[in-house]
Amino acid sequence: MRGKFITFEGIDGAGKTTHMDALEQTLRAQGREVVRTREPGGTPLAEKLRGLFLHDAMDPLTETLLVFAGRRDHLTQVIEPALARGAWVICDRFTDATFAYQGGGRGFDLTVLNTLEQWVQGERQPDLTFLFDLPPAIAAQRLAAARQPDRFEAQDQAFFTKVREAYLARQQAQPARFALIQADQAPEAVGKQIGRVLADKGWA
Ligand code: TMP
Repeated sequence: MRGKFITFEGIDGAGKTTHMDALEQTLRAQGREVVRTREPGGTPLAEKLRGLFLHDAMDPLTETLLVFAGRRDHLTQVIEPALARGAWVICDRFTDATFAYQGGGRGFDLTVLNTLEQWVQGERQPDLTFLFDLPPAIAAQRLAAARQPDRFEAQDQAFFTKVREAYLARQQAQPARFALIQADQAPEAVGKQIGRVLADKGWA
């Protein structure tokens, strides 16, 4: 049986990590093989590209091509083989982030993004995407306490407002794939909401 491909998305500071940890534990406790991975990154090559992507100045097309190049390597080397052998893949961000950050945040052409998405991943889409949604002002407060910001974390609230709107547009266009999570709730409430989504699918 093929595994499931689950992604976590949201603006920086949305608090995904704790819940990815919890999901990984839940699935492992069920005896499943879990591959925990991230984008940009997930393979040695894609992790090198991640370093450039997060820290070097470049134009939006270069940024987009880099992230899709890494995604191609990640899909062929890690994600597709894992799903084929029945593993469950939990990925911190995927193509929705490109539509949100490069499309929404940077204003990059969505037609080009659609073409690249099709080239790089064909029909492959996550089976389920948790979209952690919260007001950028709250996310900014959380980030203020965090580490040295990268090129994206350093953006202003207007940028994150556009990113958030682009995420929500993607969710509205493909509602069956998404679970929308109100990420400004207490972590326990978010955890319960995630549990209900999995139970409804018969996955946990
Ligand atoms: P993170 O691993 O801390 O979430 O950092 C990744 C950053 O890269 C985050 O700010 C979102 C951004 N990003 C894009 O701009 N486009 C993409 O396609 C992906 C996957 C991430």
